[in-house]
Amino acid sequence: MISMVDSFEKISCTIFPDLIEGSRFVAQTIAQLIKEKQQKKEMCVLGLATGSTPKTLYSELVRMHREEGLSFKNVITFNLDEYYPIDRTAFQSYHSYMHRNLFDHIDIDPANIHLPNSDLPKEEIKKHGAEYEQQIEDAGGIDLQILGIGNNGHIGFNEPRSSIYSKTRLINLENSTRLANSFEFATIAEVPRLAITMGISTILKARKIILLAWGPAKAPVVQKAVEEPMTELIPASLLQQHSDCLFVLDEAAAADLTRNKSPWLTGDTEWTPKMIKKAVVNMALKLKKPVLSLTSTDYNDYGLADLVVEKGDVYEINLQVYYMLRDSITGWPGGKPNAVIPAHPERSSPYPKKVVIFSPHPDDDIISMGGTFQRLHDQGHDVHVAYQTSGNIAVTDEFVTRFLDFAVGFEEIAGIDTKTSNDILKKVSSYLSRKKSDQMDTPQIRAIKGLIRRGEAKATCRYVGLKDSNIHFLNLPFYETGTVEKKPMSEADVQITLELLQEIKPQQIFCAGDLADPHGTHKVCLDVVFEALRRLKEQNQPWIADCWLWLYKGAWQEWNIEEIEMAIPMSPDQVIKKRYGIFIHQSQKDMVPFQGSDAREFWQRAEERNANTANLYAQLGLTQYAAMEAFVRWHY
Ligand code: F6R
Repeated sequence: MISMVDSFEKISCTIFPDLIEGSRFVAQTIAQLIKEKQQKKEMCVLGLATGSTPKTLYSELVRMHREEGLSFKNVITFNLDEYYPIDRTAFQSYHSYMHRNLFDHIDIDPANIHLPNSDLPKEEIKKHGAEYEQQIEDAGGIDLQILGIGNNGHIGFNEPRSSIYSKTRLINLENSTRLANSFEFATIAEVPRLAITMGISTILKARKIILLAWGPAKAPVVQKAVEEPMTELIPASLLQQHSDCLFVLDEAAAADLTRNKSPWLTGDTEWTPKMIKKAVVNMALKLKKPVLSLTSTDYNDYGLADLVVEKGDVYEINLQVYYMLRDSITGWPGGKPNAVIPAHPERSSPYPKKVVIFSPHPDDDIISMGGTFQRLHDQGHDVHVAYQTSGNIAVTDEFVTRFLDFAVGFEEIAGIDTKTSNDILKKVSSYLSRKKSDQMDTPQIRAIKGLIRRGEAKATCRYVGLKDSNIHFLNLPFYETGTVEKKPMSEADVQITLELLQEIKPQQIFCAGDLADPHGTHKVCLDVVFEALRRLKEQNQPWIADCWLWLYKGAWQEWNIEEIEMAIPMSPDQVIKKRYGIFIHQSQKDMVPFQGSDAREFWQRAEERNANTANLYAQLGLTQYAAMEAFVRWHY
């Protein structure tokens, strides 16, 4: 039976609560295929992808090999792509990636592994491409092709405008792709400009295709690929042509599909207050009208006739949504003392409150909630900040050398024997001067880089007005790998967090609520706090029942306007004060290593984002503030 969802979605989608469950599902599909082929004594030909998306899939396959005896003896693999040029032993090459994440841990025959060869001179790549295609055919064609999707819709490295007839070839990478992948390289300049990739026609020849996408950043492009007409401008949309293609998504990546964004268009909707707010706010923004000016014609045109039938009066619905928006705005993030305001986002008592702000990196507190942080302190709350990780990989070598020069110079001025520090400086400087882009810092250099960031965090807290005893550096061990790849959450991470919470016993907690962040650090930091709170609750700690958890978004995105439960306005002066607070993080200005795809500086991102929230509230018909920070309450 054709459902309403099918009339929007031109590619089948299966949606899982998170990437772990989605990856498990795909791993099981692969395992089943391998076993079926084993029984028939046939080889199983897999097309494989790299990037952050399939990492959990590969670790699940490795687990199945180790714990369940899944064998890869009958598996032949062809990878989609490889940078060009790149030394295949470099950490960032897809050759290294595949060995590190999969091949080194399973029993595949090395002769059955194929990746495009980046060692060849440019003139030979054309021939190599044809040979690669031939090798795939000789192996019997690809049984199952795994894909990720780029923010620009690329599959493999087939950038927008790649032809549906394209074959394995050399391709020029778009700047947006190089930026998106630059988090693995020290700087954007080091990301190769070219890549060898299977073509779209090569991919479409696979008998079955599964594309994976996780996290909110992929939501817009997933929607385009799945629901909009096929176009070479969104290469993944060309998969609509394939007869056996499945998109496996987590909830965040599926958020923009019509079934989620406007569920009333795809079937029966339960009109909860939250759903009403979502529908009306999105309609008002789309029509560029204040909520209180929406008419019944607007409701009909926007597909919300059902809502009007159920609730009766349009103006009543408008008012209900207007009040919800109005009641989310407050200048009192810790609650307004001695006031009875039933719909206020926070409780009036106890007052003042003990507050813990968890900051994944040493600057997320000021970047994402600097105005609120300042208000909480100014309104007399006992504010603590817990910096969860050292943030040591995001300091340039040039920056650390400056500090070392200072340290030696300082000792000379102070008349201290400089032998030891001079030795350190010599050792560190000579290591840094020889350091290659894929080489890790020594533990000593990492410690010094961590110290620099710690100094900046402390200075920011003092700028806000905090006592040193309220500043906590947790240095969670999961982060300390020296590379962009982090370890999973461990018992030690949870224990450190538990101890801090036990010591402070806060009534209010703020956390970076990046619930689906495939690159990791923020997500692990959040999971650690969730786990600590879960255990404290299980232990029936008396204070925990009275402790509210608020989530702010990390540096990249903001909550959707309809999700916001507490919006803290900022005056123009407060915006400037926050900007200077962000400036204190000097190591993060200008050229930050592993910055990712957004080239703006952190203060610019923060200001644009906070002004945007204020503008959206104003567009909806509420008071126009200069800026606003936004929070969602999490019930744990
Ligand atoms: C990787 C590849 C690319 C990635 C895409 C998404 O072999 O061909 O198409 O799948 O760039 O990358 P991540 O997963 O890092 O977001």
